[in-house]
Amino acid sequence: MKCVAIKDVKQFEITDISEPVADGKKVIIDVKKAGICGSDIHYWVSGQPKGLVMGHEYCGVVTNPGDREDLKVGDRVTALPISPCGHCDACLTGNPQYCPETWSHATGLSLDNPGALAPKMAIRSDMVIKVPDTISDNEVAMVEPTAVGLHAVHLADIKVGAKVLVVGGGIIGLVSAMFAKKEGASYVVVSETNEARGNKAVSLGVADEWVNAKDPNMVADMTKKTQGGFDFVIECCGNAAAVSTALTVVKPGGKVILVGVSLEPVTIPTMLAVMREIDVQGAIAYTKTEFQTCIDLMADKQIDVLKFVDDVVDLENVQSSYERLTSGTDSAVKILVDPNK
Ligand SMILES: NC(=O)c1ccc[n+]([C@@H]2O[C@H](COP(=O)([O-])OP(=O)(O)OC[C@H]3O[C@@H](n4cnc5c(N)ncnc54)[C@H](O)[C@@H]3O)[C@@H](O)[C@H]2O)c1
Ligand SMILES: [Zn+2]
Ligand SMILES: [Zn+2]
Repeated sequence: MKCVAIKDVKQFEITDISEPVADGKKVIIDVKKAGICGSDIHYWVSGQPKGLVMGHEYCGVVTNPGDREDLKVGDRVTALPISPCGHCDACLTGNPQYCPETWSHATGLSLDNPGALAPKMAIRSDMVIKVPDTISDNEVAMVEPTAVGLHAVHLADIKVGAKVLVVGGGIIGLVSAMFAKKEGASYVVVSETNEARGNKAVSLGVADEWVNAKDPNMVADMTKKTQGGFDFVIECCGNAAAVSTALTVVKPGGKVILVGVSLEPVTIPTMLAVMREIDVQGAIAYTKTEFQTCIDLMADKQIDVLKFVDDVVDLENVQSSYERLTSGTDSAVKILVDPNK
């Protein structure tokens, strides 16, 4: 079957892989929609690993339920991409997202488990979650990135009335800002280097204001405006400049959540954290409960994530969509792929 795989630095190819074969265990689905994620962009930029078929945010229809007796052909599902061992401390305490084994065989993020940039895929059955008919395919494909934002905001433990800065207005930044407001933050600001994305954060109603991270006065202005700094900063970029900004504009004793990923080490001014006793917390993925919570919030119409979807493309347009998402000027934050289009 036709699929999209990494070929080289910033280069995909349309190629062929064999269709998944029923083994009585894995769940096989027809992919309806697959999201392009900021983390996938890091792999595409690096050109590694060659041959990787990405796509870990998706909605599908079951064609073979494998060993899941509660599922039947035709059910609509999504799944957690992680592949936890099930018996380490992290797994046993409800945190499979940092099980040491969880990412090496993750679906859509490892060579042995191809993802949703193909018409069909096989999924580890215990990660599959049936979704209600009341949420659309596009919403289902948004569950995974939404859960990343929910997890970051849960770890921040935002108090009602708090001032929150989200560094980076990609999809992870926007859902984090959305949840920060929902938790009761009174002032939510998004900082961006891309004006179109900054404006979008405000026009979509997830931020009270956006600030241009390229403005040399931004940190001083924000420190003044917040009378000493933000209570919480959620960093959703991963580069050195963004992490440094986060450590600078948080108030003394405040909390910084690091969500952004960098495949290379980054240099940051740790003295800022030391001298002002900043609480720095990493955030990876989500728990299974948070994943389910996002489905429930969508079903209850408590959150609207469709407003973040900018486009739906076919497999031929995956390459151009990655270029659009990394242009630095386009307002698009989430592009979905329909591999059967
Ligand atoms: N920790 C996790 O579990 C997890 C999960 C998903 C994604 N991520 C990571 O989170 C990050 C964000 O994901 P995304 O999908 O929103 O990516 P994205 O690339 O679409 O968004 C990043 C945004 O940051 C902006 N930016 C870059 N430098 C900046 C700076 N110095 N100040 C302000 N803004 C700046 C860019 O213009 C861009 O809009 C990525 O690094 C991704 O890999 C982490
Ligand atoms: Zn993702
Ligand atoms: Zn484990």
